[in-house]
Amino acid sequence: MSLPSREQLVSVAEQSEAQRGGRRSILSRQSRDHADLDALMTAYDAEPDAAARGRVVAELAERALRHAFAEETVLFPAYRRHLPEDADLTAHIQGDHQRINELLEALQTADPHAPGYDAQVREAFAVIRHDAHDEEDELLPRLQRVASPAQLRAIGNAWEVQRRTSPTRPHPKIPRTPPGNVLTGIPLAVSDRVKDGVDHALPRGSRVRTVALAAGAGLVVAGVRAARRR
Ligand SMILES: [Fe+2]
Ligand SMILES: [Fe+2]
Repeated sequence: MSLPSREQLVSVAEQSEAQRGGRRSILSRQSRDHADLDALMTAYDAEPDAAARGRVVAELAERALRHAFAEETVLFPAYRRHLPEDADLTAHIQGDHQRINELLEALQTADPHAPGYDAQVREAFAVIRHDAHDEEDELLPRLQRVASPAQLRAIGNAWEVQRRTSPTRPHPKIPRTPPGNVLTGIPLAVSDRVKDGVDHALPRGSRVRTVALAAGAGLVVAGVRAARRR
């Protein structure tokens, strides 16, 4: 069976919520989250203060990474089960996710006041927008042709549960496909939340902060080892 081309498909952006399979369908959930990511990119453009721009990028990074991790562990495996002849499309999108992880990792430690910061941010935004278009214009409409509305809602619910518990920081070195990402994702999600808590609670350079981060690192190593033994 030949796959429909992009031009033969109706983009998620041009469908009503009912056509997408309802509010909980993966098409509707993806559309809403892509819109939230787009709103953050617009907020960055409108923000004149460099430090505030850095905070917008941090918020966008966390949201984009959780969104993408849940795709890699829930949506793309479901897509490959429904359309095993189209693994090339998810491989292409995973390549973009890898690039997003690398760019956001570099931005984590970049200074928003530095001359090259804005260009780095623009490159990350371009890949995030391209990724959303590939999914809304091609991957999701193709899935919609072979999955029932009930199946689209089941995938949407599973994706949302995974998104809420996903790692919050960039991890370009972990695999982008199961089972590697699933096994490493759980301890990394715990470790990321330890670091998020430390970032909010303790000043940079303090001894307590160093100890807290070391404890978080120990936790993730133990978690990865335990996951590999199962
Ligand atoms: Fe994506
Ligand atoms: Fe997406």
